[in-house]
Amino acid sequence: MLAYRHLFHAGNFADVFKHALLVRLLVALARKEAPYCYLDTHAGTGRYDLAHEWAWKTREFENGIGRLWDRNDVPAALAPYLDAVRSENPKGRLRFYPGSPLIALKMRRPGDRVVLVELNRKDCAELEAAVARERHVAVHHMDGYQALKAFLPPPERRGLVLLDSSFDRSKEFARIARALKEAHQRWSTGIFAVWYPLMAPAAMRGFERDVQKTGIGNILRLELLVRKRDAETAIPGCGMLVVNPPWKFEAEARPLLDWIWRALAPEGAGGVKVDWLVPEVRPAGRRRPSPSDSL
Ligand SMILES: C[S@@+](CC[C@H](N)C(=O)[O-])C[C@H]1O[C@@H](n2cnc3c(N)ncnc32)[C@H](O)[C@@H]1O
Repeated sequence: MLAYRHLFHAGNFADVFKHALLVRLLVALARKEAPYCYLDTHAGTGRYDLAHEWAWKTREFENGIGRLWDRNDVPAALAPYLDAVRSENPKGRLRFYPGSPLIALKMRRPGDRVVLVELNRKDCAELEAAVARERHVAVHHMDGYQALKAFLPPPERRGLVLLDSSFDRSKEFARIARALKEAHQRWSTGIFAVWYPLMAPAAMRGFERDVQKTGIGNILRLELLVRKRDAETAIPGCGMLVVNPPWKFEAEARPLLDWIWRALAPEGAGGVKVDWLVPEVRPAGRRRPSPSDSL
């Protein structure tokens, strides 16, 4: 039984963080002409009505997209994300928030393929309706972890997997580390983006260790904290692990997240962290080309 419904949280600070980074990953994939595949293992409903009573019950969007909606000074790297949200609200008033599937569909090019997976039957039906008019998109009512086994590696051999679990099971961190290991064994060159909430330090250390033990190299960790860690009610922050981040992604993400943090945490609580959880592992004798190679 899946109790989690994303409509309670749609457009909150965690969605802004996740979707802003998702857009940068998709922009990077589009720099090469060859088509890519985007696999969303926990897709949600695709579109969220922020006027719905569930969204109003928590009003989490007010401290997320609500803080960016009227800004006209956003950095260029954030513009495609805000354009995606604005295109859902052509009348100029914030009402609908696009989830990761709709954002990916807005960013993809004609030959790129989108695969969406959602386990909640009702949410999956809503998702199907939300993308019904789109081409080259498949919606599957199934377990996202099974989808990793079923759909990887994709025939395109390039692309991105977003693993955006609702964390409604106590052992979700361990499950994600296992799933990531298996998925990476199937497709070692794919980009994997894994969203996670910042929980108690012991849980985070356990996750860090489990991911390091997978033996996967080249994992960038990005975290955003918008409240003091001792805040009791809600999660104080969230993070994303990116396996095989594209070229320039790290350099773009740092200033982008700093800007987002200043916009979402004007009281100055928390901050941003970007570091390598696991540095790139390269076969002996091979090294990354340095700028001086071309001199
Ligand atoms: C955080 S929400 C997804 C939000 C969406 N990715 C977005 O950014 O707009 C997590 C979703 O995963 C679904 N879910 C939970 N467990 C799942 C599983 N094992 N496989 C697939 N979907 C699952 C939930 O029903 C929920 O809709």
